[in-house]
Amino acid sequence: MPALAPDPKTTGPAGAPPHIGIFDSGIGGLSVLRALQVQLPWARLSYIADSRHTPWGERPAAWVAERCGQLSAQLLAGGADLLVVACNTATTQAIAGLRKRWPAQRFVGIEPGIKPAVAASRNGRVALLATPGTLRSERLQHLVQAHAQGVTLLRLPCPGLAEAIEMAWQDDRDLSAQLDRIAARLRAAEVDTVVLGCTHYPLAAAALQQRLAPGTLLVDVAQAVARRVASLLPMAAPGAHEAPPPRLLATGPAQNLHLAALHWLGLELAVEALDLPDPLVPARCAVSADVSTPVGGFAGLDNLLLREDV
Ligand code: DGL
Repeated sequence: MPALAPDPKTTGPAGAPPHIGIFDSGIGGLSVLRALQVQLPWARLSYIADSRHTPWGERPAAWVAERCGQLSAQLLAGGADLLVVACNTATTQAIAGLRKRWPAQRFVGIEPGIKPAVAASRNGRVALLATPGTLRSERLQHLVQAHAQGVTLLRLPCPGLAEAIEMAWQDDRDLSAQLDRIAARLRAAEVDTVVLGCTHYPLAAAALQQRLAPGTLLVDVAQAVARRVASLLPMAAPGAHEAPPPRLLATGPAQNLHLAALHWLGLELAVEALDLPDPLVPARCAVSADVSTPVGGFAGLDNLLLREDV
């Protein structure tokens, strides 16, 4: 596998600022990168978007696990001190395997903020928006068991939403239509708190918020993840300077990530192309009758949703 050559700007002598490697299927993890910049402005950040293969949320867990191993290997070869799995799908499906493969390495993942959402809800009606992969994972079932007793939890798989967010810099009509349908369903269910259970979704939080009843709370745990990362790294050295801009790499067209980062975050960043072999395991899910859904599109949304748990 070709190693990611260390970037001279992000390596240095002992005592140099920490170097955090971050990855996601696409631009979603930039919502986590943004939080890391706030919490750790002195840290050096390298980010890989696997945009050649986005979305991951509709792929088999074994494929996601292998891909996450490839991306982690790249970031470690590039000198990362700590890796952030900036993807709910990958955290639920792959982080345990990554920790097993690199037992001495620190990995921080992200999981849907069900616990804070349940604590914040005033009417006991909470929705979780996530990818089909996250919703069918065992880890998610454990989170629900542990934290969502006594509330009504609407689990809403959103196939196609991450992709629509990826492409909104070019054309946002698909995203608008999807948000309209989701918001209608959330309003009808009278939820007062919505967990954004995919790192892509906070990018479109403002657009979703304006479609919901006033006062609806959207829960994004990116800042909590950034605080967890900060707790694992040394404090900034006295007089530490702000780090250079993050290093962005994309396995798909570099220009798309550049334009998406500009569109969603106002970040004008150079993007490097990263050429990696594809995982050897099958890349497609067999369609199942459970919360996994056919790839591509939202047409069947109303039939797919909606398992409610008390
Ligand atoms: N942003 C990722 C997540 O948090 C993955 C979205 C996707 O590629 O399906 O789940």
